Amino acid sequence: MSWGVIATWRMAFEGTALASEVLKAGGSASDAAQELVENVENNPDFRSVGFGGLPNEEGVLEMDAAFMDGDTFKIGAVAGIQDVANPIAVARKLSDEKFNSFRIGAGATKYAEEAGFERKEMLTSEAHEIWAKRVAEVTEKNLNPYDGHDTVGVVSLDSFVSMTAATSSSGLFMKKAGRVGDSPLSGSGFYVDSEIGGASATGLGEDLMKGCLSYEIVRLMGEGLSPQSACDKAVYDFAEKLTKRYGKCGAMSLIAMNNKGEWGVATNVEFPFCAANAENEPAVYIANPGPNKTTLIKKATKEWLDSHGFD
Ligand code: GLY
Repeated sequence: MSWGVIATWRMAFEGTALASEVLKAGGSASDAAQELVENVENNPDFRSVGFGGLPNEEGVLEMDAAFMDGDTFKIGAVAGIQDVANPIAVARKLSDEKFNSFRIGAGATKYAEEAGFERKEMLTSEAHEIWAKRVAEVTEKNLNPYDGHDTVGVVSLDSFVSMTAATSSSGLFMKKAGRVGDSPLSGSGFYVDSEIGGASATGLGEDLMKGCLSYEIVRLMGEGLSPQSACDKAVYDFAEKLTKRYGKCGAMSLIAMNNKGEWGVATNVEFPFCAANAENEPAVYIANPGPNKTTLIKKATKEWLDSHGFD
């Protein structure tokens, strides 16, 4: 029986191992994806997701998350939610709603509170300190304030051939209040169809949403392309088009898995990610853009893991 999980960034490694155990034991793709994302959300060392995430320019931590069930196309999403321990759990619950399934700002936070989700002060003193230092630097040196937009994105497949996609992010560090990236946007930050496969994105939301790349990758897999060919075609063709027509293209990295547990990745920056399936133990891999619209992927060595942080 086939199962698999793929997730963005090295920070997802522990969660990928947990999700693998869920899937190996016959658990659902949805439970596995939620477990993985919550593991990242709960870790204060990860500065771009959940507890310990970096705030907006006003020092307020606003979080985005989404959950999609590839069997039914049910989607739940939140944007700009505050002080809720696990935005992904709220997004999953919202996916059961026929109406009002994507909530923003105060409405999202109110929904979480009324539905009984754990409230928690999510801005840690360390994250506040990093923010205060950045505010001072930006003012003194007239720097571009924006930095960091490393979403945790997941695609999971269970042995019943059900698939899930999920994302969670605190978005761009020093973003304007109310700014939302690609992570909670269907088709941009994530998309999944259990009869085909799923995809998820990380990178500069403002540029990712111009290409709806998660949907495009699933569409290409539906036309018969392998996950790797679909990622390569969607990402590199769009990056080229955006650079030509818009003048520049921000960082974009996409992961994908089909409903056989085969995966693919494409990126225009160095991009670590995690994957596991029935044949391969959870591992960290590193992807880089290769020649002629291809992607070079290798397993992270012990030296690489020792010398790099959690990104
Ligand atoms: N990719 C996450 C964001 O731009 O907010």
